[in-house]
Amino acid sequence: MLLAVLGIGGGACALHFLIQWLVCKRMSLAGKHVLITGGSQGLGLSLAKLCYTKGAKVTIVARTKKKLEQACEEVRKIQSETPGAKIQNISMDVSSMRSAHFAELMTEAAQAEGFGRVDVVVCNAGTGVAKLLVGTPLEQIDELMDAQISTNLLGSLRCASAAAQVMASDGLGGRVCIVSSAAGLISLPGYAVYSATKFGHRGFLAGAYHELQQHGVDLSVYYPGSIETPGFEHEKQLMPTVTSRIESSCSDVSKADDAAAVLLAGIEKGTKEITNELLPSLVVDHPTGFAPLDALVAAVTQCIRAGWSTYLRVMARQYISPVSRSA
Ligand SMILES: NC(=O)c1ccc[n+]([C@@H]2O[C@H](COP(=O)([O-])OP(=O)(O)OC[C@H]3O[C@@H](n4cnc5c(N)ncnc54)[C@H](OP(=O)(O)O)[C@@H]3O)[C@@H](O)[C@H]2O)c1
Repeated sequence: MLLAVLGIGGGACALHFLIQWLVCKRMSLAGKHVLITGGSQGLGLSLAKLCYTKGAKVTIVARTKKKLEQACEEVRKIQSETPGAKIQNISMDVSSMRSAHFAELMTEAAQAEGFGRVDVVVCNAGTGVAKLLVGTPLEQIDELMDAQISTNLLGSLRCASAAAQVMASDGLGGRVCIVSSAAGLISLPGYAVYSATKFGHRGFLAGAYHELQQHGVDLSVYYPGSIETPGFEHEKQLMPTVTSRIESSCSDVSKADDAAAVLLAGIEKGTKEITNELLPSLVVDHPTGFAPLDALVAAVTQCIRAGWSTYLRVMARQYISPVSRSA
């Protein structure tokens, strides 16, 4: 009996994955215009290189012009698989822009010779510094909040909203992906502010996904774990002990090229929630897309969440001294 149930279940899953694979709206990047914010280093630069390799026209956006120019030089040295690959850069600070500025930036990117309309936007620019809330001067907490909320949350949401409007306006649609973080699904001490900005991406996805589908715009969110990038190197230097102990015990650090490959595969397939690690992949809404299997995964995930919470409590007790006791 058990074997029969397992057999039927396994068969149904295999059939489901086959159907998903057949019907997924795979996009070929050759000749497409991909705009990446935060494309001058780290994950964004690795993604720009991959898109260029696949024959895409790539626009990278960041604040520092010199880094952008250097990144373009680096990308142009790559041999593209198909002719027509191009790269250009535009300097912009996403933390201080309004949505309309981003729409203007898309028009500017499209008008450059040989580039044309933007088909894919990746809202990747972000910043992360971990700090404990008690013991950090309040001015520092304010600075942290200002930087992270304006870049990670407002910057990404404005970028995604403007991209969706521009893509919907000519009826051709497109793909918009927001780079969140595994810390946008589960969090830990030190990442309260960062997670607040990254959890926000998931709320935006939940509210906007079906609306944008009606306009031919596929919205997605990527929740990567730790990645070897200049940003993460800087973040590690400033990490509180408790954060770094938990971080290093539960997450492998991916190479930026590998994390970018997972992101690109998700964008090409039109995956709604993209993950590159086991725990985040269980936490997303429909990890398998097959309801009975998802229900099973959800039950397992609840147990993992309970275990995670206990682990955090133990680590917090070990590494965070209450102010009144330490004084
Ligand atoms: N690395 C990780 O472990 C990790 C893990 C999970 C999620 N993520 C997320 O992945 C994304 C990329 O991270 P990363 O580690 O590759 O970062 P990174 O190495 O620090 O690179 C950040 C990029 O964004 C640009 N940027 C930063 N602030 C900007 C702003 N206000 N306006 C425009 N561009 C800005 C930077 O250039 P300029 O400084 O010149 O502007 C740079 O090109 C972020 O959203 C991050 O939160 C990273």
